[in-house]
Amino acid sequence: MNISHFAQTRYTTKVFDPVRKIPEATLAQLCTLLRNSPSSVNSQPWHFLVASSEEGKARVAKATQDAFAFNEPKVKNAATVIVLCARTAMEPAQLAHLLEQEQADGRFASEAAKAGQDAGRNKFVNLHRFDHKDLQHWMEKQVYLALGTLLLGAATLEVDACPMEGFNAAALDAEFGLREKGLTSVVVVSLGYRSDEDFNAKLPKSRLPAQEVLTIL
Ligand SMILES: Cc1cc2nc3c(=O)[nH]c(=O)nc-3n(C[C@H](O)[C@H](O)[C@H](O)COP(=O)(O)O)c2cc1C
Repeated sequence: MNISHFAQTRYTTKVFDPVRKIPEATLAQLCTLLRNSPSSVNSQPWHFLVASSEEGKARVAKATQDAFAFNEPKVKNAATVIVLCARTAMEPAQLAHLLEQEQADGRFASEAAKAGQDAGRNKFVNLHRFDHKDLQHWMEKQVYLALGTLLLGAATLEVDACPMEGFNAAALDAEFGLREKGLTSVVVVSLGYRSDEDFNAKLPKSRLPAQEVLTIL
């Protein structure tokens, strides 16, 4: 696989084919990408809502009204829409839960290794909670890593995508009771296949020149 080919040919799909669906096995691969995305200290401060049904997509589309109406057809006509959510807290019980999962997955050869991982994760979480006072922002940064993983991965699976920050997060959170579950929506991704009418597919990609954004030392 030539990964740079996919980086250069993937693009933000603005008009989806409303009929074509993503095969189940491909959708499962996309979910695998999300779940396996890296995160600082393996904090995994996320949850993903995956809507492929008309009803599910219509619920997500409630957050694309008024100022965000330009995104509504992208949600309704996509095959699948994924809402990437961040946690709203990182409490001791969740930190203990992460540690137990790592233990169950065979990450620790000794109790000392387990204690070290616990201490390291707590250190980073507390750094952001107390010193930088940006714990929420830090957790959202991790969600954006999952976004990047998903977008490039989708391209390699020849699935088109449209990432969207243009939605009403309060409305989306209310629709799915996210805040009550300790979650908040961060970014939405529509996935599927481009329509022949997608003007954006025909436009050339535009990026700043390599010498401007890369310094090779
Ligand atoms: C975090 C993020 C939010 C975005 N929000 C929207 C959006 O709400 N609606 C939309 O049509 N495109 C949205 N885009 C698409 C960008 O405009 C697009 O990625 C950018 O212009 C680069 O073009 P390309 O993705 O085709 O390479 C978003 C992209 C990202 C990464």
